Amino acid sequence: MNGKPANPRAADWDIDSQFLDRWSPRAFSEEPLSEREIHTLFEAARWAPSCYNEQPWLFVYAADEASRRRLCACLVPKNQAWACRAPLLCFVLSRRRFRAGGRENRHAAFDAGAAWMALALQARRLGLYAHAMAGFRLEEAYRTLGVSPEEWHVLAAVAVGRRADPSLLPEDLKAIEAPNARKPHVEVAVALERWTAPTDREGPAAAP
Ligand SMILES: Cc1cc2nc3c(=O)[nH]c(=O)nc-3n(C[C@H](O)[C@H](O)[C@H](O)COP(=O)(O)O)c2cc1C
Repeated sequence: MNGKPANPRAADWDIDSQFLDRWSPRAFSEEPLSEREIHTLFEAARWAPSCYNEQPWLFVYAADEASRRRLCACLVPKNQAWACRAPLLCFVLSRRRFRAGGRENRHAAFDAGAAWMALALQARRLGLYAHAMAGFRLEEAYRTLGVSPEEWHVLAAVAVGRRADPSLLPEDLKAIEAPNARKPHVEVAVALERWTAPTDREGPAAAP
């Protein structure tokens, strides 16, 4: 035994299978996505909830080869090694201020996260996979996207496509091409009456 659970994707409680079916592979087929698939992904994101219904997210995407090359050039080499094969690349941005009044929107990243998750779940419904990335060069991304850091937060890049055989991955990535596990349920949700503020960085000391 290597200490890992037999099925790392087993839920502590019975949940809808869509949450376990979504994971982030790196072995992508280069097969293009159809227009319909692309628009269906972003349509799902469009229906995410947001503070004051501001919808502060923006997805800037690339499906044709020349545009994909431009977004791919923003990624760190470790992500370029797999993500540039994917037929759809995008960046997820959030607008820092409310459009009306210009007040700071503290919840913009929270809302954009909900939109990305909607896209990721919709991807699985289409037989696709979405893989988010923080590993990109921020300044290069701002330059390529032509947006100002004062107005926009470039949050993440995302690769979307169909899965391919992991044998096409570099050895180190091939070795980790599998769904992973989660912290136990009791470490991420705690009833207020049992809550004590954590004294270390490990999370709440909750009883089940
Ligand atoms: C915001 C964000 C940034 C991430 N950055 C990277 C990245 O740069 N490279 C990478 O290979 N995976 C990246 N991931 C994928 C995570 O490692 C992955 O989602 C996590 O291990 C959980 O696994 P799962 O998505 O397969 O369930 C990122 C995921 C998120 C949500």
